[in-house]
Amino acid sequence: MAIIYNEQEKTYTIQTKNTTYQMAVNKLGVLLHTYYGRKIENDNLSYTAYGDMWPYTPKNEEIKGDEVWARIDHIPQEISCFGCGDYRESAINIRHADGTMGLQPIFVSAEIKSGKYSLEGLPAFYGDEGETLVVTLKDRVYDVYLHLYYGVLPEYDLITRSLVIENKTNEKIHIEKALSLNLDFNYGNFDLVSFEGRWAQERRFQKAPVLHGKTQVFSTRGASGHIMNPSCMLANKNATETTGDVYAFAFVYSGSFLISASRNIQDNTRLVIGINPENFDFTLEGGEKFQTPEVAMTFSYNGFEMASQSLHKAIRNNLCRGKYKNARRPVLINNWEGTYFDFNADKLVSMAKDASELGVELFVMDDGWFGKRDDDFSGLGDWFVNEKKLGCTLGELVKRINDTGLKFGIWFEPEAINEDSELYRAHPDYAFKMPNRQPTLARHQLILDMSRKEVRDNTYDQICKILDSANITYVKWDYNRNITDLYSCEVPAEKQGEIYHRYVLGLYELLERITSRYPDILFESCSGGGGRFDCGMHYYMPQAWTSDDTDPIERLKIQHGTSFIYPVSTMGAHVSASPNHQTGRITPLKTRGNVAYFGTYGLELDVNKMTDEEKTEIKRQIKEFKDHYELIQRGEYSRLISPYETDSLYCVWQVASADKSEALVCAVKHRTEASTHPEFVRLRGLDETKYYKVNDDKIYKGATLMYNGLMLAESWGDYESQLYYIEEVK
Ligand code: DGJ
Repeated sequence: MAIIYNEQEKTYTIQTKNTTYQMAVNKLGVLLHTYYGRKIENDNLSYTAYGDMWPYTPKNEEIKGDEVWARIDHIPQEISCFGCGDYRESAINIRHADGTMGLQPIFVSAEIKSGKYSLEGLPAFYGDEGETLVVTLKDRVYDVYLHLYYGVLPEYDLITRSLVIENKTNEKIHIEKALSLNLDFNYGNFDLVSFEGRWAQERRFQKAPVLHGKTQVFSTRGASGHIMNPSCMLANKNATETTGDVYAFAFVYSGSFLISASRNIQDNTRLVIGINPENFDFTLEGGEKFQTPEVAMTFSYNGFEMASQSLHKAIRNNLCRGKYKNARRPVLINNWEGTYFDFNADKLVSMAKDASELGVELFVMDDGWFGKRDDDFSGLGDWFVNEKKLGCTLGELVKRINDTGLKFGIWFEPEAINEDSELYRAHPDYAFKMPNRQPTLARHQLILDMSRKEVRDNTYDQICKILDSANITYVKWDYNRNITDLYSCEVPAEKQGEIYHRYVLGLYELLERITSRYPDILFESCSGGGGRFDCGMHYYMPQAWTSDDTDPIERLKIQHGTSFIYPVSTMGAHVSASPNHQTGRITPLKTRGNVAYFGTYGLELDVNKMTDEEKTEIKRQIKEFKDHYELIQRGEYSRLISPYETDSLYCVWQVASADKSEALVCAVKHRTEASTHPEFVRLRGLDETKYYKVNDDKIYKGATLMYNGLMLAESWGDYESQLYYIEEVK
């Protein structure tokens, strides 16, 4: 049993392999949060809620309100609501029919169920091996209920939280804020680690102290976005990769979000995570319910690495779905950086022919194959083949590509529309536009109103027509701008505050329909690179294009930052041309390959322009990547030296097999100095007592490699890299 109810103590305790989470119902019926951290067996931890009112309240005395509730501001709770004495950032805010605001939720009942819950219409971690706790609370006055859902996957130390707001009154209420997680700590002094960025610079590691006031990470863009990722970590001040307490959180949602950490007057820390209340106002009629998305969390007492590894396993095994969750994904070539919009069928086939000889398995035709699309001014929305441009039908092209030995994949941007398109001319109302404003174009395009079924059906039909017309085994689902002009033309004024969220629900409905209709297609999500890289999208698509920045040196920081939450198997990573198209930097082909190995490895260049020497190197890389595929994709990932560190010239990553029989270490030199000394890198995840051969050469004891370190080979010049295969000697 992962969830234990102690009737006498009125505690609900969630036990995972290494952690304990506990809540308790106090004498007033308030659901206290009493503990989350390293495992403690069988104990009542309610004393941690020392600001609680129960020492002051005589047993069974009628609740008097006022005085007693004034203390709510100091006590750690499972759910905090605005309006009744808790002045901290709240998770829930309700406006009742009479205009009053606030909730005072009191315990009603709880239920423990086997299997982890799923959410209708929303992505969520899954697992029959898990358990679920549902705690129901009711406002002291109004018939408004909160149902708190806790899911547990004990093996991965994963706990999820989501909640339902239920209006059992006969009148409508307004939800002004509906966050999914409220986590209170009875101490402070944390750092908030989050992942910031911009286009081509996504998910870079940043750390800031949680101070009095608020430390926030958020998106108000309608999508999770390039700028901040819907995930974070709360870490001890002195936490390192392998020491210290670290809590990690991933929001399973792809729209606007809010993560807010704060310290109160007693130095207690509160973290809340959920849908961003900005531009959010949801009406619940009597009898209706509102379901929030879920937050997944884990705790590590061994630093960042243990937290990342738990999330990696849970995301790989219990969030990603479908055939390609486990099956080896094909090595692909994408024509975007090779040709941009300038291609026809002959050019693509000629690229496929060369790529096939190198061991590539899938050809992806990117943007530019449909409608009237020779640049980014027109065509989005018209998902029919531009046969004039290709010089043949799609079926003929796919056959020719298949004849080279490659599978075929295709690009869509299903949520976008150009004003210069047949779809827009026929249905201008399909795009988000405000009645009295000129819509704002970005990349010359608008966003389709996916909250409308009619719009989704049109997109669905068009996409299916294409996918049914040829032998297509891969889809790249792109999304290249964020929403402005948020206004849905079929919805009354008072419901416009629902549209941001209804857009995301509509998107999820469309993704569910399409991915379940085509279970054999590999879907890769993309958003101008990594602008919607989140657990919501990974539920539908096991991999996402990490960034439009394909410079391997820039990628070190991007992939390193991404790895704090997301596994290597989710990170689309390609070898591109040098000089790099985003930075102009010149790098060795070997380094471009080594960095892409720590992702899904593919190519994104004009293979026809490569020299014989380069082709030989790519052939070698593809073989090497395939040889180590299982280890890379499913191994335990360690960040040995960070590219953010200023005292090392190297960034070093490692993957080790769970049985400690092999490991792969990649060291990339991101800057050069004269008169350097050899770098010793302490490996992790090996067996102290076993012996290991390094690159089929020297033999070292596991303890030696872990405690004294692997001496990196000398390297000369900028951006050199080395790969070490470490194999147990049996
Ligand atoms: C943005 C993506 O990130 C690129 O890989 C490419 O697909 C372009 N869009 C095409 O417009």
